[in-house]
Amino acid sequence: SQIRHFQWEVRYMYWSPDCVENVVMGINGRFPGPTIRAKVGDTISVRLTNGLLTEGVVIHWHGIRQFRTPWADGTASISQCAINPGESFTYRFEVDKAGTFFYHGHYGMQRSAGLYGSLIVELEDGKAEPFHYDEELSLLFSDWWHESMHEQEVGLSSIPFRWIGEPQSLLINGRGQYNCSLAASYQSRNSSYPRCNLRGGEQCAPYVLHVRPNKVYRLRLASTTSLSSLNFEISDHKMVVVEADGNYVRPFEVRDVDIYSGETYSVLLKTDQDPAQNYWVSISVRGRQPATPQGLTILNYVPTSASRLPVSPPPIAPRWDDFDRSKAFSKSMFSLLGSAQPPRARDRRIVLLNMQSKINGYTKWSINNVSLVLPLTPYLGAIRYGVKGAFDRRAPPENFPGNYNPMIPPLNPNSTTGNRVYTFLYNSTVDVVLQNANALSANVSEIHPWHLHGHDFWVLGYGEGKFTGGHKDEARLNLENPPLRNTVPVFPYGWTALRFVANNPGVWAFHCHIEPHLHMGMGVVFAEAVNLVGKVPDDTLMCGLTAKPRKD
Ligand code: C2O
Ligand code: CU
Repeated sequence: SQIRHFQWEVRYMYWSPDCVENVVMGINGRFPGPTIRAKVGDTISVRLTNGLLTEGVVIHWHGIRQFRTPWADGTASISQCAINPGESFTYRFEVDKAGTFFYHGHYGMQRSAGLYGSLIVELEDGKAEPFHYDEELSLLFSDWWHESMHEQEVGLSSIPFRWIGEPQSLLINGRGQYNCSLAASYQSRNSSYPRCNLRGGEQCAPYVLHVRPNKVYRLRLASTTSLSSLNFEISDHKMVVVEADGNYVRPFEVRDVDIYSGETYSVLLKTDQDPAQNYWVSISVRGRQPATPQGLTILNYVPTSASRLPVSPPPIAPRWDDFDRSKAFSKSMFSLLGSAQPPRARDRRIVLLNMQSKINGYTKWSINNVSLVLPLTPYLGAIRYGVKGAFDRRAPPENFPGNYNPMIPPLNPNSTTGNRVYTFLYNSTVDVVLQNANALSANVSEIHPWHLHGHDFWVLGYGEGKFTGGHKDEARLNLENPPLRNTVPVFPYGWTALRFVANNPGVWAFHCHIEPHLHMGMGVVFAEAVNLVGKVPDDTLMCGLTAKPRKD
């Protein structure tokens, strides 16, 4: 194993992700940021300089558990103070597990501004994956708005509320096309756009997948969308899903993959089609009424010319509101035989109601009637050093009132802000049930992909309606071969149950990965065995109450 050093500077810069010039957050002059590749056991050391001039910054390493380095998790107000303009901070952590990951900003809505990139961890030399492939390609998906992150943020925190709307473009490795289509020449809805005149050198020219015939490719897929749930498809090719969020799954064959914000997959693709043709690679919006054209690129069989267009139009996405289809995909995931199994029994169960609510006329998301507002002093230092007054030390609600009906709009939509912490005993087994509900308007319930920092969890099961904890609900839980994940969707009007072991001393965010939802309060904070955390580096504590001199 080795230490891999990186020097990064985050800056705003002009860029044309979808052929329209905008301001994006770039790293070392690039968008998306550089890809990190490492091997299991390596230490990553990123010296990050904030070149933004007017705002702080942090970077979160999504899917990396940060054992023994909880201060390197990169969550402002939780694991560290945001890095001030002009200052630098070094993230140093070990990558202890192979898999497909990514990184992104975790302060305000900086992920929406384009602060993200891929992080890939390979097995140690001499070790083999439980599947065969010849080559690999990686695809990072995102959605893009022409309105700046700051304007979006102002809209979300205004009366009347201004929703960010649907994205203008979907991006594949930071590239999309607005107002033109790669598929304009086909008889389809794409024909309403003019043809793209791209030569290949443009910032918005598609990232073409060049493949050789009769090989097996491992495609590493990751979604860092702000909002969109996506469906990924390659025309005329089937794929086999083998990895999810850095964990092996029992291989299963699909025509297309649903991928929610915060999720990653590896799929195997056999290049067994006519090599004289090229094929569409597409991502389309699911789960919300789409108002965004599908994101497209080309699967190019070398040596066929990459500019040769596929013979048929791009794949047609499954109906956006075919939730049964989405659930069927999620439910076809099982852990690979021989994977870690969950403890048979839980020590504790909390139920988290996902509700849309109002606070003083502002529209918010709340969990058990509390909308998360992060404190000024990061939790990790405040708890580790017993700093008084940094946040509300009372225990947060473990459930919602028994008479609450999640199938209708809230009878009393008013909730409150809060910053309390769920504290778990070291090594205890925790079950979390995410309960979805009707939003403020009638007949609306959205998908929320929940992401846990510092852990993988077992997805025990999904159910419809209100979780009661009765025999019928318990019977839906899979304790035999549930998949390990770090992100899981909760479907409209349903619930999702997961289990994890609180074995990672630190303070960890658990939140909806939809950026505007988190910004509107849709998250909670978990703390476990903070007394076992080593000395928290001083340069993570330079704000709020931990900025004062303190006794170690
Ligand atoms: Cu990728 Cu807290 O998020
Ligand atoms: Cu959400």
